[in-house]
Amino acid sequence: MKILVVMGSPRRGNTYHAVQRIEEMMTARSGSPNGVTFSYLMLAEADLAGCRGCFSCFRWGEEKCPLHDDAASIEARMQEADGVVFASPVYGMNVSGLFKTYVDRLSYIFHRPRFFGKTALLVTTAGILGTKGVLEYMDLVASVWGFDVAHRVGLLAPDDPVPPSIAAENERKLEEAADAFLEALRRPERPSPSFSDIMLFHGQRATFAEMEGIFPADYRYWKERGWLEKKTKYFVEDVRVNSLYHLAGTVMEWFMRRKAREMAEEMGG
Ligand SMILES: Cc1cc2nc3c(=O)[nH]c(=O)nc-3n(C[C@H](O)[C@H](O)[C@H](O)COP(=O)(O)O)c2cc1C
Repeated sequence: MKILVVMGSPRRGNTYHAVQRIEEMMTARSGSPNGVTFSYLMLAEADLAGCRGCFSCFRWGEEKCPLHDDAASIEARMQEADGVVFASPVYGMNVSGLFKTYVDRLSYIFHRPRFFGKTALLVTTAGILGTKGVLEYMDLVASVWGFDVAHRVGLLAPDDPVPPSIAAENERKLEEAADAFLEALRRPERPSPSFSDIMLFHGQRATFAEMEGIFPADYRYWKERGWLEKKTKYFVEDVRVNSLYHLAGTVMEWFMRRKAREMAEEMGG
């Protein structure tokens, strides 16, 4: 199994070493022939400029982005992996700037999700405060992009060397993360979509179905995949959709479509 680590720290520091520890644990547990191979994408070493905010990717497609750098190859590396580790230190109570730039540049995936069947692990480290918010943010990003989030791990590294009680707690959390990630990667069936997954599907469908003129690339992407058809209950077919969630999503979509139609008319789309 191929694992890609998207590393948002500018250095090979606490976050990098935490992920390396997870790699060691998973390698020890997995053995051959079902081994895991890790590769590290150091965002600091990638050629990735800040988003210019032109909306070309959203409206016309990511291939129309005026920046010609590593963004497309980063997405390709994610596509090749079975699992992705999203890793960032807490900087200023949030993900690092490097990590945020990465999310901004791949933001078209929020509209056109594509990582279904892939598993994510979320890792962050902080001096003292902010892991919860960062993990929630990363969870939202990974889930909307289509990943199944296996586990989140937030570690504290208040000082160097880390005090023994915190180091022991970190080690325990890393063990848990390694076990959960490996188990999720090996699970043959996908977990059923949650209530919020279903609501997101219907909410996005309402928007993209009714706003073809404003978001033509999104409309095309959704249509090509059959996601705009009424019978389609979710992005992927090989999962069981809870019928109450489906009903709630359908009702919400009906109301949202009316709003989206009005908005599209106002915007001339
Ligand atoms: C610019 C900067 C901002 C930081 N902001 C926070 C913060 O908001 N909360 C916190 O607890 N630690 C903060 N820290 C500490 C780091 O989160 C912590 O040392 C982390 O483990 C560093 O990971 P790294 O070695 O992988 O870069 C900050 C560190 C830096 C350099």
